[in-house]
Amino acid sequence: MLPGENRIRDSFSSKFGIIAAAAGSAIGLGNIWRFPYVAGQNGGGAFLIIYLVFVAAIGIPVMMSEFTIGRMAQLNPVGAFKKIAPGKRWHLVGLLGVVSAFIILAFYTVVAGWTLEYLVQSVKWLFTSKTIGFSSMSTEALKAFFTDHYDHFLSGIWRPALWFVLMMFFTGYIVISGVKDGIEKYAKVLMPVLFIILIILVIRSVTLDGSKEGLIFLFKPDFSVVREKPVSVILEALGQAFFSLSIGMGTLITYGSYIRKKENLANTAVSVVAADTFTAVIAGLAIFPAVFSFGISPDQGPELVYITLPVIFQKMAGGFIWAFLFFLLLCFAAVTSTISVLEVIVAYFSEQLDMSRRNATILAMITVGFLGLLCTVSKDLFNLFNASPDLLLPLGGFFIVIFIGWFLSKNKSRKELSSNGAYSVGYYRIFIFLVRFVAPLAIAVLFLLGLYSKISNIFS
Ligand code: PHE
Repeated sequence: MLPGENRIRDSFSSKFGIIAAAAGSAIGLGNIWRFPYVAGQNGGGAFLIIYLVFVAAIGIPVMMSEFTIGRMAQLNPVGAFKKIAPGKRWHLVGLLGVVSAFIILAFYTVVAGWTLEYLVQSVKWLFTSKTIGFSSMSTEALKAFFTDHYDHFLSGIWRPALWFVLMMFFTGYIVISGVKDGIEKYAKVLMPVLFIILIILVIRSVTLDGSKEGLIFLFKPDFSVVREKPVSVILEALGQAFFSLSIGMGTLITYGSYIRKKENLANTAVSVVAADTFTAVIAGLAIFPAVFSFGISPDQGPELVYITLPVIFQKMAGGFIWAFLFFLLLCFAAVTSTISVLEVIVAYFSEQLDMSRRNATILAMITVGFLGLLCTVSKDLFNLFNASPDLLLPLGGFFIVIFIGWFLSKNKSRKELSSNGAYSVGYYRIFIFLVRFVAPLAIAVLFLLGLYSKISNIFS
């Protein structure tokens, strides 16, 4: 018997719970912080089209493959490959996922921590009406405020470290409570609230004077940027698709292992992908119309939501309300993602090293905590970790689709996807074609191009 196999496993209790948890993982800073600025720098609407193609042709098949592996094995990513492919080296793919989880969780929780700082600033603003908090800061001061976070605190190191630790505690608290009573329970509440807040912000943004330019920017494809730097735009779109969908590192193998046998996996994957993509687009809708309405350039980079938006909130009537709602949204989006990354490590520790959930969570928090604190003091390490998903996730995704497409027998994957014949799998031939040929080829070509461009950047 493999380690972890004899344990009683927790599982998600309802279809809505599964979708809320998996969409909670997918929808995160990637949608609200990263997507708008990456789209802004890579041609707006034109980027969106390329992104949508990748999401449909690569994202959906990879996600379905992860769910299939997880649910078939009912184990963490390492245990799952060991069980389905005994005596082979496939479990190294699971291990790559666990390593990626450490790296991603470390830098991601740092960024999530900034969100808490801004949330506190908006609350101060709310209660002190324009004396403290970022309401009173000039654009220059806001820039310095953000740079302090990003440059890891010229003015003292303890604040981002403190926010990081707090965020780590929230995440650990939810994960320690279990899959059904922790992850699912919180996702079911936080995700609907997140949508409501986002819709309110969209309505505010698109009704500002001069917001139309923002809509044009987001939806009208302008291919001039794509023509100028095609490789980098395409790579950004692929990296963004993997990151935003939480695929390629076993998060969804882990969540898949908690999905009950009677659920329809294809359906679940399509719902999660649709919710994630929809959220990225409406986050763009909440941000770009406001950016244009206040005459700010859209291609800001990582500071878009941390400098540009506060500047805009200051100028808006009732700005503190919008600031508060926005950073609350960001915070909820971040937590439902950090728990999914922590869960990968916790499932691995508890099943492979035979630890209790509690001890596994504490050990994971301490080890990731150490890496994350290093990220709060070293900008180089932070930037390295922040850039690594672009390569790590496609690499993991490549092996996952090869495993499903070429290693696992078709009978087995069909049986799992159809829940043992309960659902029709009319899409199966398209799915197999995508996981055998389209996804691996596309990922391999783009991965090598990406590697080449990263290496040539280092030497140039
Ligand atoms: N998908 C999350 C986001 O968009 C980030 C994430 C990546 C979560 C990989 C889990 C695994 O913010």
